[in-house]
Amino acid sequence: MKLVVVKNDQEMSQTAARFIMEQVKRHPHSVLGLATGGTVVGTYAQLIDLCKLEKQSFQHVRTVNLDEYVGLSSENLNSYHYFMRDHLFDHIDIPVENYHLPNGLAKIPANECERYEQLIESLGGIDLQLLGIGRNGHIGFNEPGTSFLSRTHVVRLTESTRQANARYFPSLEEVPTEAITMGIATIMNSKKILLLVSGKHKANILQQLFYGPLDERIPASILKTHPHVTIIADEEAVSLLDRNDLEVNMT
Ligand code: PGA
Repeated sequence: MKLVVVKNDQEMSQTAARFIMEQVKRHPHSVLGLATGGTVVGTYAQLIDLCKLEKQSFQHVRTVNLDEYVGLSSENLNSYHYFMRDHLFDHIDIPVENYHLPNGLAKIPANECERYEQLIESLGGIDLQLLGIGRNGHIGFNEPGTSFLSRTHVVRLTESTRQANARYFPSLEEVPTEAITMGIATIMNSKKILLLVSGKHKANILQQLFYGPLDERIPASILKTHPHVTIIADEEAVSLLDRNDLEVNMT
């Protein structure tokens, strides 16, 4: 894992947007794996600005998102479909048929998982997967205990994840209890992975990721075995890492 330490959330977003931009410039037909959540909001804003400034087209880019809540339509303000249109897709020139998320309203969610896996395969796999990390180490909605061999599946959300996401909903009761998420093996199949970590509340999990064991109780720990992972983390997030580890990697 390559660690890039930046000052704060804003610098993390700028660095991440540049990273994604370089991927698209080099490979205009890239398949990007995208994420939702507070961490990536700034990255998408910066990416939109970069697209305008540098007149970069996303005409040929295809995207697949990590996850979607079960039971929410793409028009629901809290769906990840809506989040992605609001924060990115509606502001760049990616054609609507080029971006994909799991269908949260699928009649048979298990079939939807199968369809999503096949879709990713038909696109030729993911070239660059963007990831955030949960305080409990989840990636996508793969909660602690998820098999490292998992493919796209339906998950029951843990209470800690529902509470963390409740800030976006009118009340905790309205946070869905299930989601469809790419599995850990699906994520690990990506050719490159970009993990973003910012804030003091992520310092603990970043410390565990660096110094803890490879363990299904910490889903993100599998990333240590991937050959092309770049972590962009801010000073607060790296505050519990060994200074020696930081100095080597400081940008
Ligand atoms: P956050 O979520 O960006 O809202 O902190 C990240 C995650 O849970 O994967």
